[in-house]
Amino acid sequence: MTTGLLEGKTALVTGGSRGVGAGIVARLAADGAKVAFTYANSDKSAASVADAAAAAGGTAHAIHADSLREQDVERAVAHTVDRFGGLDILVNNAGVGSFTTITDLTMDEIDTMLTVNVRSAIVAIRASLTHLGDGGRIINIGSINADRMPFPGGSIYAMTKGALASLTRGLARELAPRGITINNIQPGPVDTDANPADGPAASTMLSVMATDRFGTAAEVGAFVSYLAGPDSAYITGSSLNIDGGFGA
Ligand SMILES: NC(=O)c1ccc[n+]([C@@H]2O[C@H](COP(=O)([O-])OP(=O)(O)OC[C@H]3O[C@@H](n4cnc5c(N)ncnc54)[C@H](OP(=O)(O)O)[C@@H]3O)[C@@H](O)[C@H]2O)c1
Repeated sequence: MTTGLLEGKTALVTGGSRGVGAGIVARLAADGAKVAFTYANSDKSAASVADAAAAAGGTAHAIHADSLREQDVERAVAHTVDRFGGLDILVNNAGVGSFTTITDLTMDEIDTMLTVNVRSAIVAIRASLTHLGDGGRIINIGSINADRMPFPGGSIYAMTKGALASLTRGLARELAPRGITINNIQPGPVDTDANPADGPAASTMLSVMATDRFGTAAEVGAFVSYLAGPDSAYITGSSLNIDGGFGA
């Protein structure tokens, strides 16, 4: 049973096999979009996400594509268009974080964050712009850490998410004449494998938040669905927090 809000739309979500991305895929599919999603390593989880969407009456198609590889990201966009006949919604969700001081990070870890979190989003946007038309939507998944990094060890991760916020602002000007919006969702702590609500860092994060809990992938998925839908047409270039007051 789908809500029909995004009926007739097609979407590509990067990094949809687990966590926040899986929540986004589930919600877009439940709202009637045909959804393709990428993953790099988690074959079983990717299959489960696709199966769950189908069981709920929706469509989600897994594409093995590593965001570290430019050709993979371009192929994922082309594959989505081939399979569904077009592309209306791009969600740049794939992201990684290594958290330690700048001198303890290796340059490989820094390059991986820059490539997956920033460069692959640029590649996906460039490839998608051939296909996105009037009413098109680009949604980046940034982080509240772009605005507030209250602990040591997150400088490069925060910088990559700040880059997404700047990219979003700049591109809004280029895309508005084409009827395409671009926005940047900035989650606070969301319960995922990367940041479990019962993990060792959880109590430190909760201590700087207004709420006493982590968010869920489903809550971020609902926010993405709103920004992907027709009611958000006047929102573009924005970084929008869903963070339990982390940035308050
Ligand atoms: N969780 C939080 O508290 C939080 C807060 C703010 C922002 N975010 C952002 O939300 C996004 C998702 O985070 P998450 O917590 O859901 O992380 P996660 O649980 O680690 O899941 C990451 C997802 O991205 C995929 N991915 C990672 N590297 C990839 C690559 N090279 N190519 C393709 N896919 C790749 C993973 O697929 P495979 O398993 O197949 O590799 C997985 O589906 C990230 O951009 C993150 O920065 C998360």
